[in-house]
Amino acid sequence: MTPHGGSPRRLDGKVAFVTGAAGGLGRSHVRRMAEEGADLLIVDICRSLDTVPYPQSTPQDLYDAVEEVEALGRRVLARQADVRDREALQEACDAGLAEFGQIDVVVANAGIAPLLVEDRVQAWHDAIAVNLTGTFHTIEAALPSMIAAGQGGSIVIVSSTAGLVGIGGASNGGLGYAASKHGAVGLMRTYANNLARHSIRVNSVHPTGVATAMVVDPAIVDFVARDAILSETAPNALPVALIEAVDVSNAILWLASDEARYVTGVTLPVDAGFINRR
Ligand SMILES: NC(=O)c1ccc[n+]([C@@H]2O[C@H](COP(=O)([O-])OP(=O)(O)OC[C@H]3O[C@@H](n4cnc5c(N)ncnc54)[C@H](O)[C@@H]3O)[C@@H](O)[C@H]2O)c1
Repeated sequence: MTPHGGSPRRLDGKVAFVTGAAGGLGRSHVRRMAEEGADLLIVDICRSLDTVPYPQSTPQDLYDAVEEVEALGRRVLARQADVRDREALQEACDAGLAEFGQIDVVVANAGIAPLLVEDRVQAWHDAIAVNLTGTFHTIEAALPSMIAAGQGGSIVIVSSTAGLVGIGGASNGGLGYAASKHGAVGLMRTYANNLARHSIRVNSVHPTGVATAMVVDPAIVDFVARDAILSETAPNALPVALIEAVDVSNAILWLASDEARYVTGVTLPVDAGFINRR
């Protein structure tokens, strides 16, 4: 028998640290990981950014995520923090370590698509700061404890198909998005080599369009419709316009679990054949 009375779950005994956890994909990762037995340290900015034309999560969303994890019988610690703020992330990790004693899994998920019809250079800076520097901060905050624990671990970076091929359009924010998501692959590959000796695996996932605010919000639909380059981006190969958040969460869950114990340095598309088609 297992502590919850059923068959072993894929993340039993593990603690996962997830950023951008209050909404969209992050919320789905949190749910799936809790369902598979993980305790959770969850972080979200819980406020909107003025270069991002769709709303970010709210404190209530983060509270709802906490309630959902607890309803699944798992422990959870939540912090409102911006991944651009390295000290705030360190404080969150330190609090998580005090509560749970360890971090086994890191999911660097927080990200923005600052696609503004009224284009601004600040959109480039915000894309790089949140998507790339924020990913670096997230990993750096958790890493010392993971190395010191000597138990290995799994780090998953949420990149994009825009991290593997040249899409994103011509705006400041679109170029920043593509550059940040490619940059995340450089981080992933280098961390994977650096950390292999500690049995810490590092991989990235590359979703095609997912049905979250980042894609379905009317402001983004309007932006894409006006952008000649973006709107001619090839559709997926499989007959699906947008995949669901849980499709990405399931891939992350596998990478986080011991089922993927010898998988590291991999860029895993969850893309309905989008990249292969190009
Ligand atoms: N939706 C897609 O089609 C798609 C496709 C490929 C990759 N992605 C990537 O998936 C990740 C999640 O995107 P999503 O679709 O769930 O977006 P979303 O906007 O639905 O959710 C993003 C979450 O991150 C939080 N967040 C934003 N900036 C933050 C910051 N600075 N610090 C902490 N939290 C922050 C938001 O409050 C929100 O809860 C992103 O990295 C995104 O680039 C999304």
